[in-house]
Amino acid sequence: MSENNSNEPVSLQEKLEKNVWALVLATAIIVSVGGIVEIVPLFYLKTTFEDVNHPEYEELSGVRPYTALELAGRDIYQREGCYLCHSQMIRPFRDEKDRYGHYSLAVESKYDHPFQWGSKRTGPDIARLGGKYSDEWHIQHLRAPRSVVPESVMPNYPWLDDATIDGAGMEKRVKAMRVLGVPYTDEDINGAAASVEGKTEMEAMVAYLQVLGTMIKFEPGRDYRD
Ligand code: HEC
Repeated sequence: MSENNSNEPVSLQEKLEKNVWALVLATAIIVSVGGIVEIVPLFYLKTTFEDVNHPEYEELSGVRPYTALELAGRDIYQREGCYLCHSQMIRPFRDEKDRYGHYSLAVESKYDHPFQWGSKRTGPDIARLGGKYSDEWHIQHLRAPRSVVPESVMPNYPWLDDATIDGAGMEKRVKAMRVLGVPYTDEDINGAAASVEGKTEMEAMVAYLQVLGTMIKFEPGRDYRD
């Protein structure tokens, strides 16, 4: 309102608001301070995973790379968009732990490229699905979910029975995972094609679903960090 023609001192805010370059500079400084506070500590962390060598948590070292068949199943999981309805991330809240089991640890997604945490739960979280049902249940459920869970809104995936896994393609995928840092050996790569030979997409999907959340054997009732 006033044109500051009085003798009142001009405030810093007023100066910044009237000089666009000063405002840009001040904004950049403030944002970088925020960035530095958040980013610099990450450079001093030894690892962003839980300590798998911790003597009291030997079970964490159970996390291993997927077999070629499980990896094939995981690719189909992504292709079919299962992650749009299912998360694989149990949060450390009591209601989630009561329903799904021990909350998810970072180390459990160590070999997942990309991770499948997801955020949408039209269906339940499946981070600890492995072993909950038989293979036959999964096959029946994937072919026609409503034949086992009448109120289900999950789509049918009958075509998983029809296609077989492409062995040569699998070898390349395992190799690609090694480039991304998954410790596959030459044997794993060379054996990939043979290990998926003649397997259907259904078998691969079930192999993947059955391994979810089973690599660490958590002691019942004990939380990591207890
Ligand atoms: C439109 C959303 C939707 C999509 C897409 C979807 N699901 Fe589901 N899923 C559900 C719902 C809802 C349930 C709960 C009812 C039931 O068991 O069918 C469920 C249940 C499940 C269960 C049983 C989980 C449990 O703990 O009881 C499994 C396993 C599963 N889905 C796997 C898959 C797979 C694999 C795919 C991809 C091929 C997939 N789902 C795609 C909605 C979906």
